[in-house]
Amino acid sequence: MSKNFYITTPIYYPSGKPHMGHAYSSIVADIFARFKRLQNYNVLFLTGTDEHGQKIQKEAKKNNKDPKIFCDEISETFRSLTKILNLSNDDFIRTTEKRHHQSVIEIWNRLVDSGDIYLDKYSGWYSVSDEAFYDEDEVEDNSGKKISISSGSPVEWVEEESYFFKLSAWTVKLLEFYKKNPNFILPTSRKNEVVKFVEKGLKDLSISRTFFTWGIPVPKNKKHLIYFWLDALTNYISALNFPEVENKKYKDFWPADIHIIGKDILRFHAVFWPAFLLAAKLPLPKRVFGHGWILSDDKKMSKSLGNILDPIEIIEKYGIDQLRYYLVKEVSLGNDGSISLDNLKNCINNDLANNYGNLCQRVFSFIKKNCNNRIPFSSKLNDSDKKLLNDLKNSLPNLISLMNTQELNEYIKTVVGFSFDANKYFNDSEPWAVKKNDPERMNAILFTIVEQIKNISILLNPIITNATNKVLSMINITTENISIDKIKDNNILNNKKEIGNIEILFTKIEDDN
Ligand code: MSP
Repeated sequence: MSKNFYITTPIYYPSGKPHMGHAYSSIVADIFARFKRLQNYNVLFLTGTDEHGQKIQKEAKKNNKDPKIFCDEISETFRSLTKILNLSNDDFIRTTEKRHHQSVIEIWNRLVDSGDIYLDKYSGWYSVSDEAFYDEDEVEDNSGKKISISSGSPVEWVEEESYFFKLSAWTVKLLEFYKKNPNFILPTSRKNEVVKFVEKGLKDLSISRTFFTWGIPVPKNKKHLIYFWLDALTNYISALNFPEVENKKYKDFWPADIHIIGKDILRFHAVFWPAFLLAAKLPLPKRVFGHGWILSDDKKMSKSLGNILDPIEIIEKYGIDQLRYYLVKEVSLGNDGSISLDNLKNCINNDLANNYGNLCQRVFSFIKKNCNNRIPFSSKLNDSDKKLLNDLKNSLPNLISLMNTQELNEYIKTVVGFSFDANKYFNDSEPWAVKKNDPERMNAILFTIVEQIKNISILLNPIITNATNKVLSMINITTENISIDKIKDNNILNNKKEIGNIEILFTKIEDDN
């Protein structure tokens, strides 16, 4: 089995400042990347910015800037967001880079060579903000203006000479591929939508534009720019140095294990991208996961509704672990989900401060006071000690399988359940009551609970990385040494060194905060 794992986020349009939807796609991908590293996979995690297209050109003009300079600036804010979100990305690709340019040209040439591209005339409804064409039945009248039914954005009638990709020729091959690879598109509800769309029969796709200038020109016909979705999707292989297919990076990591994207861009990833790759005679990614929308108080976030929750403001006020945990706990991955500040505060207080945070602090303070600040060791575990540890260990195959199928919420629920159980175990076992008369029993309880804190911390590490790193380092475990295997290993606790300084992990949020 290959121990390489390649995961990607969408590359973001640097047309405005990063918002919660961007943060969500990235955090989700980061959690899976970190989990795979815990399983000792060699992970490549890619994110970046999607910089070509009319939308960016218009935005740059509005700001009186040259598009490249405009992109340099905003791409930088996305790059710094990766730090703010605590992403563990290994690379950050920009579609204005040379490595990307040459990949796109190669893909184009391959599609020409395979006979999949022809020149014709295009006419249809086009939305600048969605950068997408719509059929007549996909637009509607709105106070005398045409808008896209799915996105609500205005569309305009466009007629121009265009290169076309013979998407129609790939309908049957794609349907066969979906059938053979039932988990290629997840969640299943989204797969069904895609299959239905393809079953209707695919139309050829216009893949060049002539009405603006910010993009990669078509080889041998500079009047045309390569359609920015063909350009953008190629980022997933240009980051692997494609077209050098013999290089190690490409060989190790293509096909990608998973593209994490929002449901709004599923068609591009689950239909167009595989068709381009088939035509270019390249292997297809193993999975495309389309997550749902983050809503604010049940509504789509928008400036006019004044319900935008800014990830950076929230992180500054409450902390990054808090936001990461809340987003993936609250919103069921794959479905739309509503978030609110009130629920965020409750979640911080109940799950993080009162549960995991409080458990670690109580246990470590007790050991500091009563055990010379060293973890007591014991081999005399009773049934309730063993049950606590075994329940978690026995659930590992299930937890791994949940992460392999991106059932993130079930995973979190299970792990947080272990943290509640551990709190209860600590209360019920009352080490303070046996301290005097049965110190051996006290040692067994403390050994068990610290072992369980270590296990829970490893399992929560992909989500609340900063806090769990702190806890692990308090018990002298360095983060580089952690892996899922260490959960099965009882012997990594250190009873020679003192427990490190006990820091507050999560501050409780008072009502007026
Ligand atoms: N540039 C394209 C992606 C190209 S990938 C080859 C793009 N960029 S985007 O900046 O508009 O959006 C990036 C991601 O943010 C998408 O996955 C989109 O679904 C996600 N989100 C934007 N708003 C969102 C929410 N409110 N909720 C959840 N995610 C949403 O599309």
